[in-house]
Amino acid sequence: MIRLAAPELGPEELQAVAEVLASGQLVQGARVREFEERVASVVGTPHAIAVSSGTAALHLAVLALGIGPGDEVIVPDFTWPGCANVVELAGARAVLADIDPRTYNLAPAVLPALISPRTKAIMAVHLFGLPADMSPIMKLARDRGIPVIEDAACALGSTYQGRPCGGLDRIGCFSFHPRKILTTGEGGMLTTHDGALAERLRALRNHGLVAEGKYGRFTSAGLNLRLTEFQAAIGIAQMARLPAMVARRRELAAALLVQLAGCPGVQLPVEPDGHLTNWQSFVVTIADGLDRDAVRDALRSRDIEATIGTHAISAQPAYTGREACPNSLRAYRQSLTLPLHPRMTDADVSTVASAVRNILSETERRR
Ligand SMILES: Cc1ncc(COP(=O)(O)O)c(C=O)c1O
Repeated sequence: MIRLAAPELGPEELQAVAEVLASGQLVQGARVREFEERVASVVGTPHAIAVSSGTAALHLAVLALGIGPGDEVIVPDFTWPGCANVVELAGARAVLADIDPRTYNLAPAVLPALISPRTKAIMAVHLFGLPADMSPIMKLARDRGIPVIEDAACALGSTYQGRPCGGLDRIGCFSFHPRKILTTGEGGMLTTHDGALAERLRALRNHGLVAEGKYGRFTSAGLNLRLTEFQAAIGIAQMARLPAMVARRRELAAALLVQLAGCPGVQLPVEPDGHLTNWQSFVVTIADGLDRDAVRDALRSRDIEATIGTHAISAQPAYTGREACPNSLRAYRQSLTLPLHPRMTDADVSTVASAVRNILSETERRR
């Protein structure tokens, strides 16, 4: 089976975990701090705060910005539903925005109609590792004095106009789930240039506790969303692999793009000027009128794993009746993620590309 994704783990990670277990310091130690420093230096922010998942990072971003009942946050419709869930759990409303069908990212042109006096943030998701079109999004936000939350869950190692994703605006959120570029099992990180915001985030991830007096004081109602030392130890070992993992993904994606060029019935992913993607996922759109699920099943029958791009939030029962997002609904229906990860060989890429070509030309012939 050619897997959709596979974590790149080796003896370094094993050794790092063994050292933590031997040390007996399982939480709140030097490794979490070191992992934070390493991520901060790659993202170019003075502060990074490790948390237990990408969703935890988004949740704390919303809470630390003081977003609550009566407020709205604009969220792209085509993304992991956790993006909207954290807004709604904070008592605010996720206002769903349609996407650009070429990039799958938030379409800046739809924003002016969605922004209201209740808008307290725009969540810009760098979906599949491709940076969102940040300049117009940040300009609209700045003109109205609202922050942008960057969901960089998929985008460690991606850059926008030469600057790392996650450090472009007020707050960045990363995920280290096994399908992401770098993994700690579960895990996440917040990045920010704002020292006061970083302090609030540190308190919120740790019960609202701040170091004051002999025993500390609880200055806000926080949660326990801490990362463990063994997760951080894996993260530190993974950070050493980051440049090579991104470089290999870029090589594999370039080969897939060449081998699938001109393939009928498939819209290939793009990398617009100034947007450098880490190729966390390689997502194509199957032409309207062709059955995406049949293509996925045919790939599976050839031992090639494939799945949908991601979900349309507006199509989920929890969000019935929200804003209409036709491009997102189409992407939900027709998008297909193909395998791409550093453990794939050049031969695997050719197997995937020729399978896609054969399946689609058969499907086209039958039409
Ligand atoms: C765009 C996006 N945001 C947020 C998340 C949530 O991350 P996690 O699974 O680490 O909670 C994911 C991952 O599934 C994601 O793809």
